Amino acid sequence: MTPDHGPAKTAPGAPAKLPFHDLRASFLAQRDAIRGAVERVLDGGWYILGREVAAFEEEFARFCGAKHALGIGNATEALQVALLALDVKPGDDVVVPALTAAPTGMAVCAVGARPVFADIDPATFTVTAATVERALTPRTKVVIPVHLYGQCAEMEPLLALARSRGLPLLEDCAQCQGAKDEGRPAGTMGVAGAWSFYPTKNLGAFGDGGALTCQDDALAARMKRLRNYGAIEGYDFVEPGLNARLDELHAAILRVKLATLAANNDQRRATAARYRAEIRNPAVTLPIERPGAFHVWHQFVVRCAARDRLRAHLAERGLETLIHYPRAMHQMQAFVRHGHAPVEPREAARAAAEILSLPIYPELPTAQVDAVIAAVNAFRG
Ligand SMILES: Cc1ncc(COP(=O)(O)O)c(C=O)c1O
Repeated sequence: MTPDHGPAKTAPGAPAKLPFHDLRASFLAQRDAIRGAVERVLDGGWYILGREVAAFEEEFARFCGAKHALGIGNATEALQVALLALDVKPGDDVVVPALTAAPTGMAVCAVGARPVFADIDPATFTVTAATVERALTPRTKVVIPVHLYGQCAEMEPLLALARSRGLPLLEDCAQCQGAKDEGRPAGTMGVAGAWSFYPTKNLGAFGDGGALTCQDDALAARMKRLRNYGAIEGYDFVEPGLNARLDELHAAILRVKLATLAANNDQRRATAARYRAEIRNPAVTLPIERPGAFHVWHQFVVRCAARDRLRAHLAERGLETLIHYPRAMHQMQAFVRHGHAPVEPREAARAAAEILSLPIYPELPTAQVDAVIAAVNAFRG
């Protein structure tokens, strides 16, 4: 993926640029503990599938209220491992949202299946039971709802639809560490949840990382061997698998960061509450927290018909913003030949033209929040 972070460059004489992310701030917030964890692993001399991964799996499962958690290299591989464990094969269809990060669809292609795009609800940006139903084909094998921007898709109607069709729901939890729907934690409602610890995520590593959560012993056991070349123990290979393992260094770092995830999510919620209370501009539509959802605000995504002008207006004031995502899935070159949309995903296409992500991360300085609010309020269409 194109990195969507990093220090912003400022031209001489231009206003100081206030970046969308400051990943170093998350390191500095826990520097000593992170250095301690890294040294512990390096000194220990065991770097793959050891004590740190096992401890992280136990701690992350507890955090999510899941029976099983498995450390995986990243969320793309986590989705791939889960799809293989669900016996998805070439010729099968897998429903994914028409608005999501491209890797949700890439994982489907990687196992030889076809991503089929379901439209989104324009208020929450997630798929609904009605949009998924319209995307089902006779070859549908799995449905992947994505809990986009930190808010769960409304799961009960999706689960009811899936049950009535005998289809498994695989949750894409890449953007929602700590989110809940009707009190149920993300990653525990479908057959499995696929997680990303890409550095910008609510629980972010300093490199790639991921996990799978699941409630079913047999599925967990199969995913566990599929992440490790299809081996049960040592060199006992029972089926073709991947190398999709989380490494010990990152497991140790993620254990440190997991300890502050809930507090960091509270920080994000406080910033979102300020944006929602203080941004007052009829040209800008604010995101909602759906009743019943516990939103962890991975992204704070507003809509504006004049999105590009709003973005330029903020940039002129030194405020960096991003677009998640500038194209709907069915509009991406990669999926024109490899994907399918039985019903035109009009809401996803409309959203892609109007959405703008404002900065939101736990260490975001108050002065920057003030500046964003003032600048958005000063925008005149
Ligand atoms: C919704 C979603 N799914 C999957 C992924 C893939 O995650 P990773 O980069 O860990 O493979 C991402 C990453 O941005 C994502 O946002």
